[in-house]
Amino acid sequence: MFKKIAFSVNGKAFNFEVDIRESLLELLRNRLGYTGVKKGCGVGECGACSVLIDGIPFDSCLYLAVWADGKQITTIEGVAEKNGELSKVQKAFVEEGAVQCGFCTPGLVLTTKAMVESGEDYTRDQIKRELSGHLCRCTGYQSILKAAEKSLEGHICTCIKER
Ligand code: FES
Ligand code: FES
Repeated sequence: MFKKIAFSVNGKAFNFEVDIRESLLELLRNRLGYTGVKKGCGVGECGACSVLIDGIPFDSCLYLAVWADGKQITTIEGVAEKNGELSKVQKAFVEEGAVQCGFCTPGLVLTTKAMVESGEDYTRDQIKRELSGHLCRCTGYQSILKAAEKSLEGHICTCIKER
């Protein structure tokens, strides 16, 4: 069974007929060519397929394409500045050496971007929790944490009490 949906990806509008069993990951990666959306586990464990849906991080492998009707989706392809320069978050990942094979990086950058754009203050433990849905086989996580903290400069909460 198919259903017509309207949504946007990185500001570009789409009207698309989707199989109601199709995941957003399959739609974005296989049919629309957003290959920055990675398929790792396919079952919501690794975070490699993360995208922002109306600014909130989701595992696109667990999100049905039909649910995207009326939504604004952001993939890693839409994160750089309009002039083509890397965004502040992307630069922080490069500067802190938080990218090795790069498979986990799109998802981590998008989740960090969501934190930055929330305007909230975060403790180190809260940042760890926000990033805990992302598995990285390469970096050992310290550099990723540093990159996220650098991205959130000015919004790191040093209070002792956790919220
Ligand atoms: S591919 Fe979606 S969480 Fe792993
Ligand atoms: S950089 Fe290779 S999985 Fe994270």
